[in-house]
Amino acid sequence: MDIISHSEEETKIIARDFAKKIPAASVVALHGDLGAGKTSFSAGVLAALGAVGPFQSPTFVIMHRYDLATPSAQGIRRVYHIDAYRIDDPDDLVRLGFEEWTSDSEGLVLIEWPERVESLLPEHAVAVSFETVSETERRISWKN
Ligand SMILES: Nc1ncnc2c1ncn2[C@@H]1O[C@H](COP(=O)(O)OP(=O)(O)O)[C@@H](O)[C@H]1O
Ligand SMILES: [Mg+2]
Repeated sequence: MDIISHSEEETKIIARDFAKKIPAASVVALHGDLGAGKTSFSAGVLAALGAVGPFQSPTFVIMHRYDLATPSAQGIRRVYHIDAYRIDDPDDLVRLGFEEWTSDSEGLVLIEWPERVESLLPEHAVAVSFETVSETERRISWKN
């Protein structure tokens, strides 16, 4: 998938389609610079799965967990939204529970700034890339 989004709303719609297909126990690594749309995309995934907002970036708390009232069609019951921007040592994320989150068979892990904890990412992680093309355009791509 390689698509240009022209607005934050469109990014959320693209995220909604992505969310419909993503299997439980997936780890999604959201790559891209500040303002590229990682949090907007995450909010779109969360909304599509029926999580209750607001969906803010977990910049200071590192991880927000959302327990879904109804499991998704793919069997997701919990979403772990991580912002690794402030993580200096990957072990810090392990101490917070990263291994439990990524081994939750009914979980979905969304991780912003995955390059901060590259060594922890499982091999099966799905990489989604965000690139700022212009003020309102973002190139969003992933392998499927
Ligand atoms: N096509 C687009 N998709 C997503 N965000 C966009 C787009 N165009 C403009 N924006 C703006 O860019 C910013 C993206 O912020 P955010 O999603 O928090 O990025 P990140 O988490 O990657 O830092 C928001 O202010 C949003 O309104
Ligand atoms: Mg963000």
